Amino acid sequence: MKRLGILTSGGDCPGLNAVIRGVVKSAEQLHYDCVGFLRGYEGLIEPVSYLPLNHKNTSGILNQGGTILGSTNQGRFAATRGVDERVELDVELLAGVQVTVEQLGLSGLICVGGDGSLAIAQQFHEFGIPVIGVPKTIDNDLSATAYTFGFDSAVACATDALDRLHTTAAAHDRIMVLEVMGRHTGWIALHAGIAGGGDVILIPEIPWQFDHVCHKILDRETAGKRFTLIVVAEGAHLPDGDLVTQERRHEALQVRLGGIGNVVAAEIQQRLHRDTRCVVLGHLQRGGPPTTFDRVLATQFGAHAVRLVHHGHFGQMICFRPPQIDSVPIAEAVSRLRRVDPTSAAVQAARALGISFGDCPKTASPFAAPAPVQVEAPSEILAAATV
Ligand code: F6P
Repeated sequence: MKRLGILTSGGDCPGLNAVIRGVVKSAEQLHYDCVGFLRGYEGLIEPVSYLPLNHKNTSGILNQGGTILGSTNQGRFAATRGVDERVELDVELLAGVQVTVEQLGLSGLICVGGDGSLAIAQQFHEFGIPVIGVPKTIDNDLSATAYTFGFDSAVACATDALDRLHTTAAAHDRIMVLEVMGRHTGWIALHAGIAGGGDVILIPEIPWQFDHVCHKILDRETAGKRFTLIVVAEGAHLPDGDLVTQERRHEALQVRLGGIGNVVAAEIQQRLHRDTRCVVLGHLQRGGPPTTFDRVLATQFGAHAVRLVHHGHFGQMICFRPPQIDSVPIAEAVSRLRRVDPTSAAVQAARALGISFGDCPKTASPFAAPAPVQVEAPSEILAAATV
């Protein structure tokens, strides 16, 4: 009997249990047994902690949020600041992981994580540990895959919040600001803003001004709409370029974003003297059951990861290139963030419907010449990549 290992690392997201189930069920078909390491990479080294996994104890978890294996974005493996400023993992740590892999007789180790976790998997690969990466994050910011699982569920949650805010905003003639996650990209804000009928969407990829946001609110009032829905991504920069952050967990690690929603609401209230409220959606976006899309995507990722282990194609990350499930070298996948293209069809469609991105309405016309696309994320953004 061959054996493989799996772990879930970094911030959780809906679909992690679906991927675990997908791995275990398809591995059993190929006569592998499976072990699941607990609390992300931490479970790999002293004290090594894992669960034997089989179709019985992974039955019924397809639709459950969280991860039966637990996860962490802190601890001994968190010493990475992102991929452009990589902090080399301690050789003893890597050697410890290799011992665990050998002692348990693992043919392969499947690491499910976001960009920071996959950067760790890349270091494992370079050390000779047989790894396969599976991308997950609600932020949808990994460059080599069209979608990560977790994103669709987060967008569904944010859209539901907007639907609810819509009715109360209309009832009270209020301006409602919804702050959503996404770290340094605006994918969740953009998609939820479109799906939930937002009037203003503020994202890191498009510089914006309070004047333009206020004009949009006043234009709506002139048109008889006395309420406005604003969606702001936690990583959107203020007009002066600053990020709004909470505490830094550790001086070597990434900042915790959050708080821009309240800043935006307070400024609008002060400028327009309109009743303005802010809702920070926070971790609700990461909890609860995965959508059908995320269940299907996570299941396919799990089955494909097992196929790669079986064929010995290590150092690869699974990716979705519609309609195919494929793979790319992990190193390639984590070399840059995938950011919203300000000239993309989704942004253009939003503009065509009158949604404001808080930028100058003249230059922002959907019929204006496309602005240059920033492909590479600035180093300070990559440096802040989530583990
Ligand atoms: O990367 C996923 C994510 O949920 C981000 O959208 C958010 O900024 C961050 O993780 C929050 O992390 P934590 O779990 O530390 O609160």
